[in-house]
Amino acid sequence: MAAPILSKKSVCIVTGATRGLGRSIALSFSKSLPSGSLLILLSRNIGLLNEVVSSIHQRDGIRAVAAAYDQGSRDENTFDSLISHCMGKAEALPDEFEQSILINNAGTLEPIDFMRDLDNTAEMSNYFQINLVGCLALTAKFLQFFKSSVTSPRIRIIVNISSLAAISPMNSWGLYCMAKAARDMMLKVLASEEENIRTLNYAPGPLPTDMLTTASEKTKDLDLKKWFEEQIAQKTLVDCDDSTRKLMAILDKNTFENGSHVDYYDEI
Ligand SMILES: NC(=O)c1ccc[n+]([C@@H]2O[C@H](COP(=O)([O-])OP(=O)(O)OC[C@H]3O[C@@H](n4cnc5c(N)ncnc54)[C@H](OP(=O)(O)O)[C@@H]3O)[C@@H](O)[C@H]2O)c1
Repeated sequence: MAAPILSKKSVCIVTGATRGLGRSIALSFSKSLPSGSLLILLSRNIGLLNEVVSSIHQRDGIRAVAAAYDQGSRDENTFDSLISHCMGKAEALPDEFEQSILINNAGTLEPIDFMRDLDNTAEMSNYFQINLVGCLALTAKFLQFFKSSVTSPRIRIIVNISSLAAISPMNSWGLYCMAKAARDMMLKVLASEEENIRTLNYAPGPLPTDMLTTASEKTKDLDLKKWFEEQIAQKTLVDCDDSTRKLMAILDKNTFENGSHVDYYDEI
């Protein structure tokens, strides 16, 4: 049987770790990963990231560093030296770790529009830059930095924070659905191309975060908007820490099919 993923000394990169699910993942993983592990936290807001780093440092044996990162950047330099910069900041070397983990969590929802209204090419390009291109570039840099070879095999784990929207159309959420579907496929292709890799598309359930507030306020499709408003009013949203616990349970059971899409509500 495969060992629980979070039982191994890891270097773990989390994007969008300032708030919502990403913050919960960073804090929860820091309590679960073994001593000597390193968390690398990325997002645009370095002030908030450093607060998360401070909370993690209260636990002995776990290191954490933060770096400002705009996933929508069109500057190649943003991605080129990011991981080596963070490893240097932590005075860490790749070979110190039994495995490396990338949690592609950062994401945005707007612009929210029906397909017939999606004609602003600059806005659409920006959306895919953040939610697809940047995510893809970071993933490639991660694989290049934590290279695996026949002589030096290295286990890499990549989790895409997905959504029901990746597999089910949601009216007026075309851009979000398309980006999430593409990211799911990205991990399927990766799993097929690479050795020594585990990839998972995890749909975390509806969470009470800033993104969901935006969904309830700005969704153009009125049925879908009402659904979000009702979830908030009836308090049926999934707590971020509960969703993170489910993700950790999936990783620890470690029986998921590479590249598969697993939802918070699925039996594991
Ligand atoms: N909320 C839900 O109900 C729900 C449901 C299914 C899936 N999801 C997915 O779960 C993930 C987290 O969502 P959430 O609800 O926690 O969202 P959130 O509260 O809005 O947080 C989004 C995170 O992404 C970061 N981010 C946004 N734009 C970025 C950029 N250009 N570069 C780098 N980081 C960026 C933000 O950090 P900065 O602002 O500091 O950059 C923030 O930490 C997303 O992928 C989302 O699609 C959410």
